[in-house]
Amino acid sequence: MSDRAETRGPVTRRSRTAVSGGGAASVKQVHGSKSNDAGDKPPQHNGRARTENDVQSPRNGKVDGDGGQQLANLSKKQRSAVEDINEKLSCHVLQESLLSSASGYSNYRGILNWCVVMLVLSNARLFLENIIKYGILVDPIQVVSLFLKDPYSWPAACLIIASNVFVLAALYLERRLAVGTISELSGRILHFVNLTSMLVFPAAVILCVPTVTPVGGVVSLGVYTVFFLKLYSYKDTNRWCREIRQAKAKKLTRSYSCPSVAQSNGSAVHTNVSYPGNLTHRDMYYFLCVPTLCYQLNFPRSSRIRKRFLMRRLFEMLFLMQLLVGLIQQWMVPTIQNSMKPFQEMDFSRMVERLLKLAVPNHLIWLIFFYWFFHSSMNFLAELLQFGDREFYKDWWNSETVTYFWANWNIPVHKWCLRHFYKPMLSKGFNKFQAQIAVFLVSAFFHEYLVSVPLKMFRLWAFMGMMAQVPLAWFVGRFLTGNYGNAAVWLSLIIGQPVAVLMYVHDYYIIHYGTTT
Ligand SMILES: CC(C)(COP(=O)(O)OP(=O)(O)OC[C@H]1O[C@@H](n2cnc3c(N)ncnc32)[C@H](O)[C@@H]1OP(=O)(O)O)[C@@H](O)C(=O)NCCC(=O)NCCS
Repeated sequence: MSDRAETRGPVTRRSRTAVSGGGAASVKQVHGSKSNDAGDKPPQHNGRARTENDVQSPRNGKVDGDGGQQLANLSKKQRSAVEDINEKLSCHVLQESLLSSASGYSNYRGILNWCVVMLVLSNARLFLENIIKYGILVDPIQVVSLFLKDPYSWPAACLIIASNVFVLAALYLERRLAVGTISELSGRILHFVNLTSMLVFPAAVILCVPTVTPVGGVVSLGVYTVFFLKLYSYKDTNRWCREIRQAKAKKLTRSYSCPSVAQSNGSAVHTNVSYPGNLTHRDMYYFLCVPTLCYQLNFPRSSRIRKRFLMRRLFEMLFLMQLLVGLIQQWMVPTIQNSMKPFQEMDFSRMVERLLKLAVPNHLIWLIFFYWFFHSSMNFLAELLQFGDREFYKDWWNSETVTYFWANWNIPVHKWCLRHFYKPMLSKGFNKFQAQIAVFLVSAFFHEYLVSVPLKMFRLWAFMGMMAQVPLAWFVGRFLTGNYGNAAVWLSLIIGQPVAVLMYVHDYYIIHYGTTT
């Protein structure tokens, strides 16, 4: 009896100790499982750790001392038998449920996969429903008619070719300024005239020439807008170089105008240029072709063209282009057409239903467009031209604020805004809020310009959509944080865009066909 009591007492005591100790261990194990891959066994090891301690007690009443030594002498078989018994005796440890926040568990990869499976399944159903309802609407030949009304008249292409006039004007102007044959003030005025003409001329052509299609108009205006931003940057950078030169910097080296450039794709062996050696046709057209809006004398260059990388990007470009066109024809167009009637009748509940229906394909198309443009196309172009800076986007999908989204989803535009607008305004004494409003105003103007002119109607929906980002940014920044902020950004993207799309399409139908049916 005394033996039993002696044996049991410590066992019970050890058991309790082990449970409370195991509690701590169990939390640790849950944390551990977080760092492992999903599906790792939940904290089963606690039992093991405890068992080894517990084993000491039945061997002799004293827990410590040479009991441990005796335990070590036990044969493997005996030990596992004891472990088995102990596991059977106590199967509980102090621990939290995985879904409790106190458990510290955060590996939800399986849930993410489930979301993807559900998404694919529900979209497969939508896809099937669409095919049953409308049949196959994808028609590649129809795409050509979006660009051309008359096969013998290519006004949009001619317009793009004509942009060379403005480009060369900017280059010759800079050459004159470099040698000092015209004053800085005259140079500024002439640049202003040149840049303003770059915006007015294509708009006037598109509005006056009836053979320019809306899609042709968007493409040519897009090219002009990109060139406008590039030439603006070109003029600013060259002016800064002149200022530096005038400030006694006699030796302008390449490293001066392009300090400590990171050669991301290996060390480049391109020769450096310094001002005004950069004012050449080759340099100008290289700048126009590379995927950036900000000029610098010496761009970071990659050492070679990676052919496999190039081919992969090319394949993505071609495939995604087809996918985009197919999705627009098969999914977007019928949904938009079906949305017109509720909008004409101002049937609010049906309008909301149509809006939500349009939100899905619109958002999917936008995401594909993002990848196609910012990853596949820009990387293709950069690889081909050995342009080293490949930061075309950052992790905007994690945005918890609207400002973070705008500063990270389109890096070329954001970089231009910061370098040529935002920071100059700050340095002139404007405060951050005023500078931000000004940047969004300019951005809103260009959004409206790129939509209204090709559609030949001025409704200001795009302008208002962009300006609405300012109060939205304030609201999200002020009231929502973390995942709530991130959800708000996603919601504004998913719902905001189809609202603008429906507004423009509705008005376009009304103007051009008099009715929405
Ligand atoms: C307005 C906008 C430029 C603000 O950007 P932001 O990153 O939120 O601005 P911040 O105030 O955080 O500061 C940006 C930079 O200015 C600098 N800055 C801030 N205050 C400054 C000051 N008083 N003086 C000098 N520099 C200052 C910061 O250091 C920072 O520099 P860094 O980029 O080198 O680190 C950005 O939201 C934007 O680009 N919006 C428009 C985007 C757009 O229209 N895109 C169209 C895509 S289709």
